[in-house]
This record gives sequence, structure tokens and C-alpha cells, in this order.
Amino acid sequence: MKELKILLSSEKNTLDLGKSISTCLTEGLLIFLKGDLGAGKTTLARGLINGLGYSGSVKSPTYSLIEQYEFDNFTLNHFDLYRFSSPDEWVSSGFQEYITSCNITLIEWPEKSYGFLPKPDLEIKLLYKNQGRASFIDSFTPKGNKCLENL
Ligand SMILES: Nc1ncnc2c1ncn2[C@@H]1O[C@H](COP(=O)(O)OP(=O)(O)OP(=O)(O)O)[C@@H](O)[C@H]1O
Ligand SMILES: [Mg+2]
Repeated sequence: MKELKILLSSEKNTLDLGKSISTCLTEGLLIFLKGDLGAGKTTLARGLINGLGYSGSVKSPTYSLIEQYEFDNFTLNHFDLYRFSSPDEWVSSGFQEYITSCNITLIEWPEKSYGFLPKPDLEIKLLYKNQGRASFIDSFTPKGNKCLENL
């Protein structure tokens, strides 16, 4: 397991971290985005998705639960499980089927479905620090390690 700590003193830093991660993604990567309300999870996802070349607006999936982005060779699925009322909604919603060996998956509020989600390759935690944020990036798989090495 590897861990990186990066200070993010402004929204732009969070967007830039997402952009950097977008350059070292590999097929099928599953990323958990953790942190309190307003910590910057969607902002990081926005930097990542725009970094992949999507030029439209990246909306928070808080109400829709999922936002999908189609790229040439894969789909990126961005989930926000905050509104789940029970952890097994992950199963009843059929969302597990969206995780494939080639799609990229981002999940905000994975805590809402612990016990039902697969192990992530990377977990990014955002913490409030002064006016900015601190980010901690952990990898749990060889695929995740490879991504972090290139970050
Ligand atoms: N490094 C940073 N420093 C200061 N403000 C930041 C930073 N990163 C993001 N923000 C700001 O934090 C606010 C909330 O961001 P965002 O919506 O991404 O949070 P979130 O973690 O997705 O929240 P939620 O849990 O509600 O989904 C935004 O106004 C954004 O500009
Ligand atoms: Mg969000």
C-alpha cells in the first residue's frame, strides 16, 4: 500500500490534482472519493473528467446518483451515494454492473455502501485544512500503485 499527501490551498489545486490523476489512469480503475460535505470530491472529479478531454460541465451526481461520460474506449461512471438510505441499495440499483474491466469508476460517499462495494484501487480523502484542503491518496492494488507511481 502506498500513500501520498498533497496540500490543496485553493479550488484550482483540487482541479489540478484531478487533472494529474487523469493522465495516469489505467483500464478499469475504481476510485473512492471520501471527505466531509463540501470537502471537494466533486471538484476533484471535475478536474479529472475535464482532464480526460470532456469539455462540458461536470455536474454533481448528488441527486441523479450517477453521471456518465463516454470516451472513445471506455465509459467513466461518477457516482454519489450520499442519498442511499441503506447500504444494499448498491445491489438493488444494479450499479455493480457498471464496474467493468475497462470502465473508470469514481464513487463519492462510498461509506454509504460499505460491505457491498468492491475494493477500490485508489482512495482519495479530502480534509478541511485552514482555508484549503489536505488530500491523502492511498492505493490498495497493483493497478492503483502503478497510477500513483506516475502521478
Ligand atoms: N482546495 C480547496 N480549497 C478551498 N476550497 C475548495 C478546494 N477544493 C474545492 N473547494 C471548494 O469546496 C466547495 C465544495 O466542493 P465540492 O462540491 O467539490 O465538495 P464535495 O466534497 O463534492 O461535497 P458533497 O459531499 O456535498 O458532494 C466548492 O465551492 C469548491 O470550490
Ligand atoms: Mg460532491
